[in-house]
Formats: sequence, C-alpha cells, structure tokens
Amino acid sequence: MDSYISNSPDETLELGRSWAAEVSAGWVIGLMGDLGTGKTQLVKGLAAGLGIEATVNSPTFALLQEHDEGQLPLAHIDLYRLETPAEIVGAGLEHFLTAPDGVAAVEWFERWLFADWKPGQPLPESARPANGTTLRLVKLTDEGETQRRIVYEDFGG
Ligand SMILES: Nc1ncnc2c1ncn2[C@@H]1O[C@H](COP(=O)(O)OP(=O)(O)OP(=O)(O)O)[C@@H](O)[C@H]1O
Ligand SMILES: [Mg+2]
Repeated sequence: MDSYISNSPDETLELGRSWAAEVSAGWVIGLMGDLGTGKTQLVKGLAAGLGIEATVNSPTFALLQEHDEGQLPLAHIDLYRLETPAEIVGAGLEHFLTAPDGVAAVEWFERWLFADWKPGQPLPESARPANGTTLRLVKLTDEGETQRRIVYEDFGG
C-alpha cells in the first residue's frame, strides 16, 4: 500500500503523471473519494503522462470518454450518476471495469463493488481482478483546503 500527501492540485497531477509509467493494457484504476477530492485531477495527470493532449474533464454528461491517441487507450469513466452495479452493467460499462483493452480510470468506483472497502482490507472474492488485469484501488480524502491524502493498493496482475 502506498500513501501520499498532496499539497496542491499540481502535486496530484504529477502523481497521476507518474502512474503512466507503471500501467499497461488491462489496468483498472478505481478512484474512490468524495466530491472535489481530486479524482479528475489524477486522471488529468495520467492522461498527460500517456501523451494524451485532449482536455480531460469530469465526464459530467457522458459516462465514458475514450482517449485513443496516447501510448495506451484510456477510458475515463464516471459512475457518480449510476446507483447500483446492475445499473452499471445495464449501461454497458462492465467490460471497462473488469477487463479493459487499455487502461480504465474510473471515478466513483464505490458505485461498483467496494462501497465499504478501506485501504488495507482484502478484496472480496467476487471482486478479484480477472487474469491479466490489475486493479489499483485509490482512496482520496480531503485533509484541508489544498491537502489531499491519496492511498492506493494494487491487486491482481
Ligand atoms: N492537493 C490537491 N489535489 C487535487 N485537487 C486539489 C488539491 N487542493 C485543492 N484541490 C482542488 O480540489 C478540486 C479537485 O477537483 P476534481 O475535479 O479533481 O475532484 P473530483 O474528485 O474529480 O470531484 P468529482 O467527484 O466532482 O468528480 C479542484 O478544484 C482542485 O483545484
Ligand atoms: Mg471528477
């Protein structure tokens, strides 16, 4: 488990950028944390690190934004408006959450399976990543106006 304190939006961006060198096809980055904790900021950094020049925003209206011009395809997903795993499956997103072709960065991953997961806890059996898939679970918390705690742990591979 890695724990990181970010003291500015830029530091969060740089952390995301550094992840671009760690990921490969089949990675799911599951981002959990309240509104405004920096999930999109991390994805912006990841996208920049993958050489994606398009603007990366919270996908407010689209559930899914795909960026295919970088070193790896990046699917940016926001589950905020979906309330249950059944709705997520119904929206056709399951493939991205379990076995993406490239990298999937998923905001509000709590909506999928792990509403109660806390860093350091094992994953439920049903949530084990498929062979060849790595799940990086990321928990962001607001520690002050410009401070964020970012704890993350990788499963599978
Ligand atoms: N250390 C920090 N890291 C990241 N963002 C920070 C930090 N300090 C302040 N901020 C501010 O917090 C906000 C984070 O916004 P961001 O859109 O990344 O959050 P989010 O978790 O994606 O929220 P949402 O759930 O609404 O999608 C921005 O306004 C950013 O400027
Ligand atoms: Mg966001």
